[in-house]
Parts: sequence; structure tokens; C-alpha cells
Amino acid sequence: MDDGFKNQVLERTDIVDLVRSFGVQVRKSGQNYTCLCPFHKEKSPSFSLNPGKGFFHCFGCQASGTQIDFVMRHENMDFLGALHFLARRAGISIPERHNSPQEAAAAQAARSEKQKILELLEDACRFFEGQLRRPEHAGALAYASSRGLDDDALKKFRVGWAPDGFDNILRWADALKHPRELLVKAGLLKLNEKNSVYDLFRARLMFPIWDDEGRVVAFSGRIIIEDKNVGKYINSPESPVFTKSLLLYGFNLARKNMQGEQGALICEGQMDVIACHRAGLSHAVAPLGTALTEEHVRKLRRAAKAATLCFDADPAGLRAAKRSLGLLLAAGLPARVITIPAGKDPDEIIRKQGPEALREAIKNSRDCLDFLAEQLRKEHGDSTTGRAAAGSEAMELLSSIPDPILLSSMLQDIAERLHLDPRALQDGLRNRHAQQRSRERRQQQQAAPAEPSPTLGETQATAPLPSPLAPVQEATPDAESNVELILLQIAVANEDLAHELAEALPAGGLSSNPSGAALNFVLSLVHAGDWAAAAQAALARFKQSPSVMKALAMPEYSASSTPEILRKAASDCLAKRLSLTRDRRARDIMNALKAPGADARTLLAELQQLKAMK
Ligand code: UTP
Ligand code: MN
Repeated sequence: MDDGFKNQVLERTDIVDLVRSFGVQVRKSGQNYTCLCPFHKEKSPSFSLNPGKGFFHCFGCQASGTQIDFVMRHENMDFLGALHFLARRAGISIPERHNSPQEAAAAQAARSEKQKILELLEDACRFFEGQLRRPEHAGALAYASSRGLDDDALKKFRVGWAPDGFDNILRWADALKHPRELLVKAGLLKLNEKNSVYDLFRARLMFPIWDDEGRVVAFSGRIIIEDKNVGKYINSPESPVFTKSLLLYGFNLARKNMQGEQGALICEGQMDVIACHRAGLSHAVAPLGTALTEEHVRKLRRAAKAATLCFDADPAGLRAAKRSLGLLLAAGLPARVITIPAGKDPDEIIRKQGPEALREAIKNSRDCLDFLAEQLRKEHGDSTTGRAAAGSEAMELLSSIPDPILLSSMLQDIAERLHLDPRALQDGLRNRHAQQRSRERRQQQQAAPAEPSPTLGETQATAPLPSPLAPVQEATPDAESNVELILLQIAVANEDLAHELAEALPAGGLSSNPSGAALNFVLSLVHAGDWAAAAQAALARFKQSPSVMKALAMPEYSASSTPEILRKAASDCLAKRLSLTRDRRARDIMNALKAPGADARTLLAELQQLKAMK
């Protein structure tokens, strides 16, 4: 950490101003300033501020420190978060490390583009807010109020309206001279095939999405008249300022309320978050149209010591809860679960039964193991094999718990709940860890640069004599990997195709190379209904493999390719895979023919058939 930067931030931050900016009443008393301590309950002020030294101290609870410590504690931020918060507040730019002037220039350009996008989104948010108040859009306002959004809520959550039509946002932007490319980048306008632009959000109630510092980085728009032909919500596409797997709706508001035992309340949608905050449950957050990701959980872990998951009790919701629990536990966050009767959500409960009903549900939330055991029993059944399968899934879910003692006691606990021998789970876990280690070693070896390929001369010297039956080309392992890497790109680029591929490709049929493992990993997430998180998760998991990283980070096929191109590439790849599989089978047959006592007639007949299919 650059001390110069830190000192500059501290020098430019008046501690009295800072504390006042959080709504604390500060009075001068002699050289110092005093107030009621914001960190513990008290009736007479024992919190003292020294502006000269930039220091606070509470004689009641002994809290003390600099401006940075104050923000860390008050806003529940980590050190860097607080430092950057103060830097931005003081208008000091945050230093970055760059290796070259070109890199520095590129970073500067990216920063100013980000800045422009943020300003544009803030303007757009005000535009939508204004539209919601116009008399001609009274229907939208009426819908909002039917959802329990009164004036306070509309203001606090900055709800707006995107009018019906393809060019309202476009005309607004043109009038304000916002460049159209910027609106496309920010996800407000879309390009059609003819390269002309149109509004993405039409006739939708607009919820701005904030980043951790409360800046508008995206929108989520809801239709107000049921329509099966369009998505109920559409969210802004990802942009330089918006990454779905990182963003939790409401986090900027909820972060400081996540301390203590209650931790974070994780809901499924933004309407739930709004309803919870309005009901005083201001520790609620929700991912935005994706399942909970590892990044989400990392963010939560920095702010909270525990989490409560609030999920719909339909089968999809229960599976999602199970997966999310695994992530929370792996991050070392103790978790509880509330399952809400199918089809209902916190928003509906608060609206129909009042906030007390939801508080009650939170009070009655279940311990994660209790939930997991019941869920696994339900999914796998009570037969011997069912219980074994439940046990191995439980092991899988718990295996990443970082604290070995906790892990062991949780395994013991879940084994008892599933009526399994705890030792069997412990042994299974040890085996799994051993397997994982050897798999990682293999992946590292495969990811290492390939040996230089033999020269032609060497190949000829060692190659077997050409056989009269040599119709089959040697399929290099690379051909198979290449096909898998392209399929991987397609699977993360297009959700529909991803599902089709998950159907078409049996898990066992993929290669054991990193490409096959990565494709298998992505398709199993797709199968589990978590397409949105797949790309990020694969990037994190296969960072040891350069070929997989390259395919994901610099893809030839991506979401910007047209669906037609992607579909064509997918079907080419599937055809190519089939022909490679046939080649392999043909090679196996040829080897089998060399073995003594081989049934040559049958084998040759199959070989003929394979050749005919080419
Ligand atoms: P839900 O379908 O549970 O919606 O989706 P909801 O939050 O209860 O919304 P209301 O009460 O009908 O208004 C949960 C979340 O999934 C995302 C949204 O973020 C939503 O809040 N979602 C849902 C989409 O992104 N697109 C959709 O079409 C539907
Ligand atoms: Mn709802």
C-alpha cells in the first residue's frame, strides 16, 4: 500500500465533517469535539473527536482510530474499501499500477469511458423517474402503487418508467447530445440487424441497479401487463460498469446492516429486497436474474458473519437454495434457510400478511444441515442406494468448508440425519480430496506447454509399417480438444444452445483433457439451471489450463456472434465429434485385429460400416 496516498486521503478528510456526514450530532467541547458514540448505546456523550490528529476515541466502548477506521466500522467496509470511499469523497484519484505508459493511457481511457457511462445512467435514471410522474403514464404509477410502492419507496428506490415505443430513450438521448454508441455500451439502446438503434426498455417499470457505492450501473425493467411473449423482467446487459456475477441488488443499502448475528438476508428478486427494506429488514439483498455466485458470496463474507437464505419452495427454488448453501458454507459463512410456500415470496408475504409474518419466518428459519438433510432425502429417497447418494452429495456440498473441525462435526451431524455411518462420509471425503489433488496435478501437467512435435524423419522411423487396412486418419488428441473448446465457447455464449448441448452431449463422452472437463463442468451448471454463472465459474476453476482460459477469455465465438453463426458452428462441431469418435473406434478395431484370436470377420464388418458412414 502506498503510504503517500493513504496520508493524502487522511489529510484531506476532516474527521468532524466525516462523522457529521453520517448524521451524527457533533458538539465542540474545548479543543475537541464530542458526540454520542455511534458504535454503542449511550445517553451521555463519551465519543471524542480530535480534528488536529484525525483521531476518534470512545471512553465508553474503547473504539478508536483514524478516519479510515471510522468508515470501516460505521459502513462495515474493509480497509481498502474505506480508503477508496474516502479518496472518492475527497476527490483524490485512486492510484493504479501500470507497467507501461500505453497501459496507463488505456486505463485512463477506460476510466473516462466508465465515468461517461455512469453519468449517462444517472441522467437516464432521472429521465425515467420524471416519466413515471407524467399524467399520461398514470397507469404505470397505479401499477407501482398496487405493488405497495408508495411515494417514499418510489423516491428511495428511484423507480421510474420507460415509455412504450422504440425511440423514447433514443430521442431523449439525442436531445441531450449523448452519443448513441455510449447508450449502446451502457445497454439502454440495442442495435438491430440493419445497424440501427432502438430502445431496449419499452413500457417497463424501471428499477435502477446500484453498485456498492450507490451509483446507477444498470436497470431492471418490469412489464406491468402480463404478457407470455416477453420476459417479465429484462435487465441491462453487462457493460463496463455492470457485471452480474458481482452485483447484489441492495448491497449498498444493506451492507451496514449486516453486522451481528443476523448477517445478510438473501432473497431472490429486487421486489423482495424493496419489500424487506420497507419492512425494516434492511439487511436484504438479491442477485440479479442469476443464481448466487462465488463472487457474490465473497462480497457477503466481507460484510457479514452469517446469512439467511430466503427461497421459493418450488423444486427449482429448493435446488438453488441447496447450491447457494454449498457456496456460503465453503466461504465459512454459517447459513440458515427459510423456505416460503411455493409461489410466494417475501414481497407477497409482507404485502398480504404484514412484516410480522416475515419476521416470524426468519425467526423460525432452519439450520442449514436440517434443510440439507431433508432436501437430500426428498431428492434421493430412503432406499439404501438413495441414502448413499444423498450422503455423497452432502459430502460434495460440505467438502469445501474451510475449518476442518467444523467440517468434521458437520459431516458427523449430516450422516446421523441421513442414517449413515459418519466414518463412511469421512473416508469418502478423504478419498475425494486425494482424487482432487491428483486431478489438479494432471491438469497442471496437461496445461504445461506441449513437447515440441517430432520431426517428420523421427515419425517415419518409429511409425509402424503402413497396414493394408489403413483407411483411418490418426485423430490427434488436439482435434478433439479443439472441438470441445469451440463447444465450450458456444455454451457460454448462448443459453438456448447451451441447453441443447447439455442434452446432446452425454457427460461420460467427453475427453479427459481440460477442454472436456471444462465443457462438462459448464454443461452440468447449465443442467442445474445456472447458465448465467457458468462462464465465470469455469474461468475460476480452470485457470490452470491456458487453452481453456484462452477459449473463455478471448473466444472466437461469443454472445456478439449471431445465433445463426453459433448454431451452425455448434452443429459442425457435433458432426466433427461424431466423425472423430468413429475414427477412434476404427483405430480400436484395427488394434483388436492384431490381437491373436480376434474375430476378424465381425471386426472388419464393423469397420466397413464405419467407413460407409463417413
Ligand atoms: P421472480 O419471477 O421470482 O420475480 O424472479 P419476482 O421478484 O417475484 O417479481 P414480481 O414479484 O413478479 O415482480 C426473481 C428475479 O429473477 C429475475 C429478476 O431479477 C427477479 O427479481 N428475473 C425474473 C429476470 O431477470 N427475468 C425474468 O423474466 C424474471
Ligand atoms: Mn414477487
